[in-house]
Amino acid sequence: MSEISGRKFALLPMLGHTKGKRSPVTCALKCDNACAGDVCNTSANSYFRDIASTTLSRRAALGFGAAGALAVVLGGAATSGEKAVADGGTGLSAAAKNGFGQGASKLQFTAIPAVASDVDALTVPAGFTWRPVIRWGDPIFKDAPAFELGNQTAAAQERQFGYNNDYSDILEIPGSKGRRALLFANHEYTNENIMFPASMPAEQMRAVGAAAHGLTVVELERKNKNQPWSYVQGAPLNRRYLNSTRYELTGPVAGSDLVKTVADPEGRWINGTLGNCSGGTTPWGTILSGEENFNGYFVARGTSAADKRYGLTNKATARQWELDDPRFNANNAGYENETNRFGWIVEVDPFDPTSTPKKHSSLGRFKHEGANVIVAKSGHVVAYSGDDERFDYLYKFVSKAKYREGDRKHNMTLLSEGDLYVAKFTGNAPAAEIDGKGTVPSDGSFDGTGEWLPLVVGGKSMVAGMSLEEVLVFTRLAADKVGPTKMDRCEDVQPSLQTGKVYVACTNNSDRGKPGKEGATEVNPRNENRDGHIVEITETGDQTSTKFTWNLLMVCGDPSTGDVTYFSGFPADQVSPISCPDNLAFDSVGNLWISTDGAPSGIGKADGLFKVTLEGPERGRVEQFLAVPRDAETCGPIVHDTERSVFVSVQHPGEEGTFEAPNSYFPDYVAAGATPRPGQVRAPRPAVVQVFPTDA
Ligand code: FEO
Ligand code: CA
Ligand code: CA
Repeated sequence: MSEISGRKFALLPMLGHTKGKRSPVTCALKCDNACAGDVCNTSANSYFRDIASTTLSRRAALGFGAAGALAVVLGGAATSGEKAVADGGTGLSAAAKNGFGQGASKLQFTAIPAVASDVDALTVPAGFTWRPVIRWGDPIFKDAPAFELGNQTAAAQERQFGYNNDYSDILEIPGSKGRRALLFANHEYTNENIMFPASMPAEQMRAVGAAAHGLTVVELERKNKNQPWSYVQGAPLNRRYLNSTRYELTGPVAGSDLVKTVADPEGRWINGTLGNCSGGTTPWGTILSGEENFNGYFVARGTSAADKRYGLTNKATARQWELDDPRFNANNAGYENETNRFGWIVEVDPFDPTSTPKKHSSLGRFKHEGANVIVAKSGHVVAYSGDDERFDYLYKFVSKAKYREGDRKHNMTLLSEGDLYVAKFTGNAPAAEIDGKGTVPSDGSFDGTGEWLPLVVGGKSMVAGMSLEEVLVFTRLAADKVGPTKMDRCEDVQPSLQTGKVYVACTNNSDRGKPGKEGATEVNPRNENRDGHIVEITETGDQTSTKFTWNLLMVCGDPSTGDVTYFSGFPADQVSPISCPDNLAFDSVGNLWISTDGAPSGIGKADGLFKVTLEGPERGRVEQFLAVPRDAETCGPIVHDTERSVFVSVQHPGEEGTFEAPNSYFPDYVAAGATPRPGQVRAPRPAVVQVFPTDA
């Protein structure tokens, strides 16, 4: 039993230590103390610096057919999902109309100053206001009970919005003239300390907490395009995906002995999805979600190379679901393979509430942050995905079949079969110029060339000594054998649909350069990397290429405190300080938006959402749009700049408090002693919020 803020909490035995990034609570509950443990990647695979200078120009290599890809995505969408995307659910059509990189967004704002990390407020720019679209506990279905903080049950939670929303997106419902849309949100993990009173029986905590995991789809409505969105209780497309929801495993691992259990002797059907972090929206209007820190939900043997590589241990889990369901303990006969059934990319069709969601084995199994898809000029679809762990890798999937305009049924099979690669980055600066502090090399940029190393090609394993199924189930072990670059925790990896360039948010790596650990490299140029950086990748030719060039868009930090930072040459004294980049989004004119997770223990400020200009003379300019409340991270940004609206998923507000002594009252902010309005509570609630102009 550990003690947090004076509260004894039997369920969470591991609290109390962190390596300087997040709060101890977040470390324990979100990542199973990943940073406090040993680095999972102990492979000898190490960065090889190619000292030979390359002169391949980043811009000269821009052979990508952006216009072609957009034409494919936008033209003649025939079904509801595809039309939703083309209609501007993600701003694509606006991008096509406006061209890219001009920075002339309709969403004009004056950057906010950085906010202190103990401020319990959502801070937005002058002229803007905000309100929650949906909050933890809000009733989804007609018969769902209103949220009652003091009367929580699993049955109620199963019919209410889940906890700790991370990825979110909004897709317009075709034919609704902009008045109806659907919102997707996933639920990464729970924090029983602040969700439940200490007096609640442990069994009840486990049951309600489990029901607060999974995914949610809910319909939104508004009177007209100038009004903010509201969610619609009981709407036809509303759905909760729970731990009991059945997912179909697709691709080469489906039917494999490696995923069979006593409950699924076929190895094809998996109940539930866990550790859902970021995600992506496909050109055909489905949603992807990444199973990230799934290891924290399982007791394993913890002795095999695979268990160690995936952070699976034999200790009791924080939530102790293993007490209620034998599958959460891989030592139980018949469930030895249950851990192999998590760590995948999930695809759901939010337009069909009766559809069976999928887990795609072709994209490999690791701690997927999320996945983002682009249609290559060739018609193949390419999905990028980061493995969010210190010293782990960046991956790319290329579909076997080609995207077919308007054929949604076909397009929904594209992620089931294809090739899988892992990235190797080579810098072009002399080794002596990478000083571990982030000092820019003498050629003026952190840059170089790269290669996508094959793991699976043409339905065959490219890794000596491993079968196709083994490569996909134990992808980390397979990648270790082919020599990819150890990265500083890849979070979102997102291609710009305007330029085809791919942006990789490397959030931080407190262990880089520590004794026995790999030191700074040109693509991860700081030791004990506290603030993270963004890599910009340009594929050489078509998006399916196995060669690329790369450079760093920025090396994050707070320039005003003397941190060594880099913003593609933009004056560092004119940017908003930024730390720990996590989720990425683009606006309709091609600016990059970055949400952060960890800034409080990086630059000491609240996490936030930042706009970064990518093209033109202001390239590298960082402007802070909002800051989230105390203890929260900013997730799931959606930028509808043509409507001057921005949405963020505010995760774990008040994380470091307790139920009895809250650290935050976001988003209801019920005053002490006041009577809450219907649906409101005086407690922190993760929520998806909309930020919009006060004159809307
Ligand atoms: Fe759940 Fe990689 O953040
Ligand atoms: Ca990076
Ligand atoms: Ca994340």
